[in-house]
Amino acid sequence: MNRLTEAWERATRRVEAYLQQQCQAQDQPQKRLYEAMAYSLMAGGKRLRPFLTQCFCAVCGGQEEQALPAAAAVEMIHTYSLVHDDLPCMDNDDYRRGKPTNHKVYGEAAAVLAGDALLTDAFSVLASAPLPAATVCACVETLAKAAGSRGMVGGQVLDMEAEARCCTRQEVLDIQTRKTGALIRAACQLGVLCAGGDRVQLDAAGVYADALGLAFQIQDDILDVCGDAKTLGKATGVDGNKNTFVRLYGVDRCREMVAEQTEKAIDALSAFPDAQLLEQLARYLAQRDH
Ligand code: IPE
Ligand code: IPE
Ligand code: MG
Ligand code: MG
Ligand code: MG
Repeated sequence: MNRLTEAWERATRRVEAYLQQQCQAQDQPQKRLYEAMAYSLMAGGKRLRPFLTQCFCAVCGGQEEQALPAAAAVEMIHTYSLVHDDLPCMDNDDYRRGKPTNHKVYGEAAAVLAGDALLTDAFSVLASAPLPAATVCACVETLAKAAGSRGMVGGQVLDMEAEARCCTRQEVLDIQTRKTGALIRAACQLGVLCAGGDRVQLDAAGVYADALGLAFQIQDDILDVCGDAKTLGKATGVDGNKNTFVRLYGVDRCREMVAEQTEKAIDALSAFPDAQLLEQLARYLAQRDH
């Protein structure tokens, strides 16, 4: 096993054990809600965002424990965004992370509420981080901005509104930076914040994240056309009426763009003394098939 796979699996085990605790009903009577939360949260997924948080904490000299609540919080928000993204009123998808989507199993109302609970509980988890109060505040602000109207939710709205027409390059970028990019950026910057990193590191993490996030969404759009549903764990060929990068540029140009953004991300890593893992991660993601 190479160093990247080993580190990613280790970070995943750690964050999954932590996430498991967050969706245990304990003494609560609303057991079905926790079941629905766990159904999507513990369904697998690459755990890319928590891994980014852990990696950036490490390259800034922090310990794993410092970044664990933030890493879990980002994954909870990401999972909520997927549960809502799949709803009939949004992308209307039946298959996610290799299983029927949340609303297919629990019904639409329960899926909406499971998403709401994941979103809200994410901030409770983040607020419990064993960090100085000012750091926790900065983390909460970073994550809330990335998830909210200026970030992921804003991007989802633009994505929906754009369905009926053809977007320009700038409009497609406006959608991507918000719906996917913002949370990836927050994941990286939370790692820096949790480790007590400085402004230069925070900015460099932002540059890496922006390029990686763009490459990631372009690859997501390519995989909708060229990927295999079983490997992906979600249906392919469902973006027909969406303003994807593939629709704008075609698959070949999109592959070049993924390579360009990957190099751009790697260049930003010069701000860190030992960022080999993050370099390997960017290269791996450019080739990913799921
Ligand atoms: C899917 O995200 C949605 C996008 C932002 C493109 P991921 O590809 O990270 O999904 P999981 O977490 O591995 O299921
Ligand atoms: C979803 O983008 C981004 C969020 C969930 C915020 P997509 O709609 O392209 O993601 P997939 O392809 O369903 O995973
Ligand atoms: Mg969508
Ligand atoms: Mg979707
Ligand atoms: Mg997609």
